[in-house]
Amino acid sequence: MSENFILNFTPTGMIPTKEMTTFVPVSVSEIVEDVHRASEIGITMVHLHARDPISEVPTYDKAIYASIIEGIRKYAPELVICASLSGRTFKELLQRADPLLLEVIIPSFTFIATAHALSWQGITPVFADINPETHTLDPESASRMITPRTTGIIGVHLWGHPASINELQAIADEHNLHLMFDAAHAFGCSCKNEMIGKFGECEVFSFHATKFFNTFEGGAIVTNDDELAEAMRLMRNFGFSGVDNVIYSGTNGKMTEVAAAMGLVNFDEIDNVITCNRRNYYAYLEGLSGLAGVDILPFNPDQRNNYQYIVVQLDDKCPVSREQIIHVLHAENILARKYFWPGCHNMKPYRDFFPNVGVLLPNTKKVAEKVVLLPTGTNMDTDAVNIVSKIIRLAVTQHATKAL
Ligand SMILES: Cc1ncc(COP(=O)(O)O)c(C=O)c1O
Repeated sequence: MSENFILNFTPTGMIPTKEMTTFVPVSVSEIVEDVHRASEIGITMVHLHARDPISEVPTYDKAIYASIIEGIRKYAPELVICASLSGRTFKELLQRADPLLLEVIIPSFTFIATAHALSWQGITPVFADINPETHTLDPESASRMITPRTTGIIGVHLWGHPASINELQAIADEHNLHLMFDAAHAFGCSCKNEMIGKFGECEVFSFHATKFFNTFEGGAIVTNDDELAEAMRLMRNFGFSGVDNVIYSGTNGKMTEVAAAMGLVNFDEIDNVITCNRRNYYAYLEGLSGLAGVDILPFNPDQRNNYQYIVVQLDDKCPVSREQIIHVLHAENILARKYFWPGCHNMKPYRDFFPNVGVLLPNTKKVAEKVVLLPTGTNMDTDAVNIVSKIIRLAVTQHATKAL
């Protein structure tokens, strides 16, 4: 990469005009420094395009890109492609690469992006139930949803917990279906001592700012399928195969240096993030231990985990509702969240398609109504975790008070 290149700054979400853009010559090391500074003061979203100052050609696929690929490969050795696309857009690319998909089975208990990625391609997402213990796609339920139009299954490694990979693979093999995994949460996680990123036909990581490893926005796809990889490489850059030669219908999915720089900065932090997340997880386990009706979804200590999500699951023994617990935490300015409620099948774009599918998704309903995600990460120390745990304990044990 040339030492100097030009960043074209445009405010996120706006169409760049000449007046609006500022051209600033900078070096890669300056970007990395800036990203360090930006993350220190809490800036998380900037939309930048990098261009070579002489040729005006975007400066992708060069040294910084090579460095981030090298870094990502430590966690996902089979990575072949990486771009500044959201995980959702990546999935759209995947489906475009294989237009034969018609009906694809996914869990309803996932982020809506998993469903949208399909429907944007004219593919019907068919919602299946989850295993209430792991919150991942229940293979039996997935099996029941297969119709003559089904051409694929997307399992989701929710919260970084591996989906039932072998069982789903067996179903896919038996019915000749594509199998892909939404690995948005699972960067740095393993399944039976093999890193997530090698299962199914491909797996898709998200590097969105909320994720364990982030490049502001972005994602990566991992596949062993050379044809699929080549199709996506082309689509990432408008289908260009060399200068002036477009051989494929594509889009703009290139990773900018600044996104890669953010990723490189975050690689330095990755072990620290895991250490803090793991420490917080064990502190929450201790802080909430013995509290009737309140469980934390366990991480398997024998596997590699990123411990990014602290998922509290209430059961019928809990005398207060999930909403009451969240209400109390929010009143104390603690940002606990419901997640994936009320399930994709109940969201407007899909609920009219499948008005009665809820009867087939009892575990989705049960889990979606009963989970609370607790704050964690490097900004939380053990004292903060203990305060959150104490407030939950108070909310549960003093449920009869008017405060609730
Ligand atoms: C399970 C799951 N899938 C997909 C996505 C979408 O990822 P991105 O925001 O990178 O498109 C998310 C993001 O939050 C997610 O949680």
